[in-house]
Amino acid sequence: MPSGKEGDKSLKGLPWFKTSILYELYVRAFKDSDGDGHGDLKGVIEKLDYIASLGIDVIWLLPISPSPLRDDGYDVTDYYDIHEQYGTLEDFKLLIREAHKRKLKVITDLVMNHTSSDHPWFQSSRRGPDQPKGNWYVWSDDPERYSGTRVIFTDTESSNWSFDPLRKQYYWHRFFSHQPDLNFDNSEVRREMKRVVRFWLELGIDGFRFDAIPYLFEREGTNNENLSETHAFLRELRAYIDELKPDAFLLGEVNQWPEDTVPYFGTGTDEIPLLFHFPVMPRLFKAVAEGVRDSVEWILERTPDIPKPCQWVIFLRNHDELTLEMVTPEERNFLYQTYAPEPRMRLNLGIRRRLAPLLGNDMRKIKLMNSLLLTLPGTPILYYGDEIGMGDHIWLDDRNGVRTPMQWQETENAGFSTAEELFAPVVDDAVYGYRHRNVDVQERDPESLLHWMRTAIRTRRRHPSLGAGSFELMTPANRAILAFIRELSSDRLLAIHNLSGAAQQFDLDLERFESRPITDAFSQRRVGSGQHRTEFELEPYGFSWFALEGDER
Ligand code: NOJ
Repeated sequence: MPSGKEGDKSLKGLPWFKTSILYELYVRAFKDSDGDGHGDLKGVIEKLDYIASLGIDVIWLLPISPSPLRDDGYDVTDYYDIHEQYGTLEDFKLLIREAHKRKLKVITDLVMNHTSSDHPWFQSSRRGPDQPKGNWYVWSDDPERYSGTRVIFTDTESSNWSFDPLRKQYYWHRFFSHQPDLNFDNSEVRREMKRVVRFWLELGIDGFRFDAIPYLFEREGTNNENLSETHAFLRELRAYIDELKPDAFLLGEVNQWPEDTVPYFGTGTDEIPLLFHFPVMPRLFKAVAEGVRDSVEWILERTPDIPKPCQWVIFLRNHDELTLEMVTPEERNFLYQTYAPEPRMRLNLGIRRRLAPLLGNDMRKIKLMNSLLLTLPGTPILYYGDEIGMGDHIWLDDRNGVRTPMQWQETENAGFSTAEELFAPVVDDAVYGYRHRNVDVQERDPESLLHWMRTAIRTRRRHPSLGAGSFELMTPANRAILAFIRELSSDRLLAIHNLSGAAQQFDLDLERFESRPITDAFSQRRVGSGQHRTEFELEPYGFSWFALEGDER
């Protein structure tokens, strides 16, 4: 059984991030160190040991720059500073140093597509075309321009244009009307974004999550997504970053179908090395609701191979609504009916709920989904709080219901803050409330989800094939079973999942591994050896990971 270290060796020239695991956290909601009711960078520092104890490699912080927080920081007013409630640039440097001491890397969002309308650049632009930033945004007299472009925030916006009474022109925005899009046709804007990137890399950051990149450029007669000009700029940016920090963790948010996403990998070394695989996620929820693997099989078959140095990034939940953009109308309908029966649970084209409530707090399903997250191709992301099965608050507006304070303890404010008033209420309901669902309680309980998550992550770390190996989908006649083999040189892992609520028996063709020892990857105990047809049994929503040892015949 390879140890983590041997595993790294077997990566044989592949980038380190192939076997990494991410933890996504919202600084404002994680830990408040100074008692003002808002989480901050020093609070994150206090909790680095906890994050490291989970087996994480990379922490992704939601935006941390100054912002009116009308889109929780995705509305930046100054790219060169830290939001005052979160701390200072010195705190940020300290966070990087402390994280590195624990072998953790830190990335944050780079919001390139748009700024806040409060940004001084936009305020200058509003005053007219002759102003210093007059051409930094996308202005038009005609709100019919680019009419082939979809609206993303359908619940709040009816058009991608808004009228500015000062400039007496319309400005373009793909998201909220308070987030005007920058004009990437302007070379000054492109140069400025590179300056921003350099600034953060010089502070010591390990990489970025590039927000909303398919929308950087606009061209009449297109849908203004994935344009060749956008790819050209991203290649320019990558080349620039490579000069400053060649092994940066660069993750692109491209919420598109696989065939439109894969081009962002470029040749494998010249564009973006890591991309979310958005369409997999809703299909995992569909598969577990239907009890059959078809939807997952369908999307995996539709996913092209990707260049060797690149990697998918997968997730179950994040800070946004569970997006249903990359599904068919029928699938969307099914997922809404299953997972968001109340209108309040829906937002835009998605569902604003956390993992545990989505799965009815059924620990079997929660572990099954996490098992899929940790074994399917890609680098997994854990969303803060999901490791303890935190709940949500559907009565808060927008996506705030899945961004509530982290539940550390059973004490007042869940141990998140000593303030009287918090930026948002802690979840305090009968099932998911902080008094019984929190880190402390779960640390004390060896049977808790938190302990199981640690064990599962530790087990994944012993198997570099799960991060960087090939993927072979098995196709047993029993469609409730999602089984596959991951393989990287001599490290081979067979993962089997029962997507249904009934016990299942099935057999798999393990001819290739005939007479080779089979070990349970969690307990590391030998459970048998491969035969031409090997029989398996799984409990309702059960799963197993088996190491297939020895050389292939
Ligand atoms: C994508 C982010 O994930 C989301 O939270 C944000 O609202 C939009 N980009 C706009 O920046």
